[in-house]
Amino acid sequence: MTRSAAAAHLEVMGQEQNTSGAQTRDALMEEVARRTGVRAERGRRFAELTSLRVGGEIDWLFVPETEEEAAAVVGALEGAGVAWRVLGAGSNVLADDREHRYVVVSTREVKGKAVFDGERVSVSSGYSLPRLCVDAARHGLAGIEGLGGIPGTVGGALWMNAGAYGHEIGQVVETVRVARGGRVVEVPGAEVEWNYRHTSFREGELLLGATLRLTRDDPEKIRERMEEAKRKRFSTQPHGARSAGCFFKNPPGSGLSTGKMIDEMGMKGERRGGALVSPVHANFIVTEGEGARAADALALAEEIRERFRREHGIELEYEVELWGAEVAERDEE
Ligand code: EPU
Repeated sequence: MTRSAAAAHLEVMGQEQNTSGAQTRDALMEEVARRTGVRAERGRRFAELTSLRVGGEIDWLFVPETEEEAAAVVGALEGAGVAWRVLGAGSNVLADDREHRYVVVSTREVKGKAVFDGERVSVSSGYSLPRLCVDAARHGLAGIEGLGGIPGTVGGALWMNAGAYGHEIGQVVETVRVARGGRVVEVPGAEVEWNYRHTSFREGELLLGATLRLTRDDPEKIRERMEEAKRKRFSTQPHGARSAGCFFKNPPGSGLSTGKMIDEMGMKGERRGGALVSPVHANFIVTEGEGARAADALALAEEIRERFRREHGIELEYEVELWGAEVAERDEE
């Protein structure tokens, strides 16, 4: 069957799903897995797949292993009108405690290799960002060493334009590979808006990989700068704790640090159930214990926002992504 015939077939099954419910939906998912050859898993929980270690059950999880497989699986899901979203390392996501009624496509296994060619490196979205930074330093390539200690995948970093210590990934992207119509399409980095912890990528776009253009420098100097950034991170941010990095953005254009201000409000160590404001860096919410719930982290976050509003007249914006049990469109900004 051709790709479009398969999509049409799946679409019919998708429509049937509205009338005959969960069983047909399950059959549809099995069909997608079979046709694309991508592993599908049931019974997984966000609590196992995110760094905050909270969050409810996932309806269906697809785990492609190559960029082509990932593109094919979302092409098939789109053809069938099935809602899906992408999860990388889960290090910037707070998923709520209910059962999530959409398909999660994990890019964790879309790792491939980092392929170096002169000043360029091509890498798939599931590749570890810290590993890429080490590889680049080894090749004498500078431009991402500030990102060295950020836990997460390359895809997640691209999605949100991850940054630290003077580097943002968007600054060095030559092209991004995106899934469109079941295929891998290359988009110039210059066509993407790379803003502070936000890009013009939209919900429904799966980032498959990228080619970065870095600059030559002495490997030893790059390594030193990377170690220095890691040292700073280790001494100012919690590590080994269950967190999703900074929870809120800094107020844009203000030069203010949200973490410093929450600290000055005396909220370090403040607790709601299994969630607390990190005693190390106040813009980190960490979770503790088996009983921790997404609702605890969210209640604490809302308490911080409320007090911030009252005391500073500033509306804090979430830096982590909040995933409800239904797929919502990504915020327009
Ligand atoms: N500070 C405090 N108390 C705190 C936290 C910070 O007094 O609890 C003070 C620090 O001592 C420092 C100032 O506030 O004088 C700024 O702190 P920091 O250097 O940690 O920077 P930040 O603005 O809080 C930002 C990013 C981090 C990134 C660092 C380093 C945001 C929201 N946060 O933090 O990114 O690692 O700069 O570049 O933009 C993330 O994106 O998840 C993240 C952690």
